[in-house]
Amino acid sequence: MRAFLLTRYGGPEVADLRDVTAPEPGPGEVRIDVKAAGLNPVDFKMREGKLRVINSYEFPLVFGCELSGVVASVGEGVTRFRPGDDVFTRVAKEHLGAFAETACVHEDLVAKKPASLDFVHAAAVPLAALTALQALRDELSVTPGMRVFIPGGAGGVGTFAIQIAKHLGATVATTASARGRALVERLGADVVVDYTTQDFTTVLREYDAAFDLIGGDTLLRAFEVVRRGGKIVSIAGLPEPLTATQDLGRGAGLATLFWFASAGIRFRAWRSGVTYRYLFMHPSGKDLEALATLVDAKKLDVIVDRVFPFAEIAEAFAYLEKGRAKGKVVVAIG
Ligand SMILES: NC(=O)c1ccc[n+]([C@@H]2O[C@H](COP(=O)([O-])OP(=O)(O)OC[C@H]3O[C@@H](n4cnc5c(N)ncnc54)[C@H](OP(=O)(O)O)[C@@H]3O)[C@@H](O)[C@H]2O)c1
Repeated sequence: MRAFLLTRYGGPEVADLRDVTAPEPGPGEVRIDVKAAGLNPVDFKMREGKLRVINSYEFPLVFGCELSGVVASVGEGVTRFRPGDDVFTRVAKEHLGAFAETACVHEDLVAKKPASLDFVHAAAVPLAALTALQALRDELSVTPGMRVFIPGGAGGVGTFAIQIAKHLGATVATTASARGRALVERLGADVVVDYTTQDFTTVLREYDAAFDLIGGDTLLRAFEVVRRGGKIVSIAGLPEPLTATQDLGRGAGLATLFWFASAGIRFRAWRSGVTYRYLFMHPSGKDLEALATLVDAKKLDVIVDRVFPFAEIAEAFAYLEKGRAKGKVVVAIG
């Protein structure tokens, strides 16, 4: 089968399309004929070796985190799927492989594809939408009437986050440039600040929570927007001890490393009376089922910016790495 393979950590030159042996499903796994795969910033961060401290991989490695496709066969003990099912999934972090014509994934991480979506749009959902759902529903416990600030609303995660926060009943403020304003307004954002011309701290005050998708100085300034007693969840800032123990299931060593890495930001949080949390999303077939229900009920729109053929996956990466995508970037495979 054709697969996009990493030979070592590095820049774009370390990944290319090659012929490799197709995987066979182990116990509990489904073998999927891949139709489309979504790209995410984590893919190029991983390629660059930036996540080595969290997951280390052996090379050559077929990478890629999310896909849609058709179940071709099932391994021993699989009960929820059978050949011919249309599915989508965020694959296991320890067992990547979405950028390939065939992938084997544990059935617990797989869900039936939303009937109202084609394969390209279905492949755009798993990683970004699961991240938004788990941050807003589980970490920020968004309830009707809450005021939530989501810096960076026009990208892959942001386009889902705005809609999910609105679905949970929140009032949503976001940041976008002029390039993304119309999109985030269409998705339901109540307040849009153009981050290229205005400092959001001069406009937004006393928000109950923030879901930070940008990190750096944007995250630091978000502490001026959230009220005392509020909470900030970031997916782009610095990991903290709970990231190690709760999200990654790791021990005191990594928790201590993250304690030091996040000392400055946690001190900033303490001064503001705000809780800080860095979330690493987790794959979940059950959460994907909930998202499929929202999509089929027309409560969650899937925004795909560009689709590339599999042969042009390197160009797809170059486009995503510019950081300007509006919604998701997808490669069509099957
Ligand atoms: N921890 C986790 O589990 C997890 C999960 C998913 C993603 N992430 C991380 O979350 C971040 C966002 O991911 P993504 O998939 O949404 O990225 P993305 O799709 O590449 O985001 C691109 C969008 O960000 C906007 N943007 C860039 N700089 C901005 C700024 N300073 N303020 C507001 N908007 C800005 C761009 O809009 P303009 O063109 O208008 O500038 C563009 O539309 C990445 O760092 C990713 O690695 C982490």
